[in-house]
Amino acid sequence: MGKTAVVTAGTAGIGLETALGLAAAGFSVTVIGRSAERGARAVERIDAVNPARPARFLSADLGSLDGVRALAGRIAGDHATSGEPLTVLVNNVGAMFADRRELDGIEASFVVNHLSPYLLTELLLPTLTAGAPSRIVNVTSGAVGVAKRVFDAVEPPGGYYGFHWYGRAKLANLAYTLDLASRLRGTGVSVLAADPGGAATEMTAGTLTDPRIVSPALRLLWPLVRRKFERSTAGPASEAARPSVVAATDESLAGRTGIVIGAAAQPVTPLRAAADPRVADAVRRLSRQHAPLVAP
Ligand SMILES: NC(=O)c1ccc[n+]([C@@H]2O[C@H](COP(=O)([O-])OP(=O)(O)OC[C@H]3O[C@@H](n4cnc5c(N)ncnc54)[C@H](OP(=O)(O)O)[C@@H]3O)[C@@H](O)[C@H]2O)c1
Repeated sequence: MGKTAVVTAGTAGIGLETALGLAAAGFSVTVIGRSAERGARAVERIDAVNPARPARFLSADLGSLDGVRALAGRIAGDHATSGEPLTVLVNNVGAMFADRRELDGIEASFVVNHLSPYLLTELLLPTLTAGAPSRIVNVTSGAVGVAKRVFDAVEPPGGYYGFHWYGRAKLANLAYTLDLASRLRGTGVSVLAADPGGAATEMTAGTLTDPRIVSPALRLLWPLVRRKFERSTAGPASEAARPSVVAATDESLAGRTGIVIGAAAQPVTPLRAAADPRVADAVRRLSRQHAPLVAP
């Protein structure tokens, strides 16, 4: 039986390029997104790369925790029925919002960037363990560097600044990645993070042009900040997908875990806060509280 991969938010942007890279490496790829039309177009492109191992699209809104639970049930059930191993899970979904909003009553960037990939991963652990050696790749971001590092609650006190809230949710997810890597040592399931650097995608074309996403101090420097955003996200998504593809497939990483693959597609030292056990404990508590494996 061949290698299989699931790529969330895999029908456009960096996720689709990741799926294409995995197909080129011989994987049968399942891509997740909301739009069926986009899903069909993505499958067509992936199949052109690897016609021998057909791709498939599964529709799910990864901003809904119930949607994530249903998706995990579907994927786990399919693998149990077919007996095919699940070799790679790429948690690629991410989002940044200019205005504060909620999903299922929880601040949206924490849901999409952390709770949703956390929940999907936890629910698929039995399947990934059965498919070992297998890998989990969580897509991170350089925005973790501007994040508030306190995780007593889903949101820190103070005003809402989308870029910083996005970075904080990505930091929670990076801390979870390193924590999970320790937890799963010896199971054959490796846990890695991949930083795409930047690319021109829907996500960056929208929010990164809005000065409200940064704190008032940075807003004073908005022309500079905006130029920095523009420069760092000018490249193609195909290049930004390389760290994820390397994390998922590179032979030199076999058996290694808790590794962060940087934007140059090489291992880098993780941000210190992500390896802080107090941050990991707090993130674990928040994740269990707000994204229980079984719907309350
Ligand atoms: N782009 C960058 O410069 C950059 C930099 C650092 C990190 N990242 C990270 O890289 C990852 C990919 O970023 P990207 O820029 O490629 O994002 P993107 O442009 O927003 O990705 C588009 C894809 O996400 C899917 N999607 C969006 N929301 C979804 C939801 N709620 N449920 C299911 N699918 C959803 C879309 O399909 P549908 O619309 O059909 O659902 C589509 O397949 C994210 O984790 C992001 O945080 C990106």
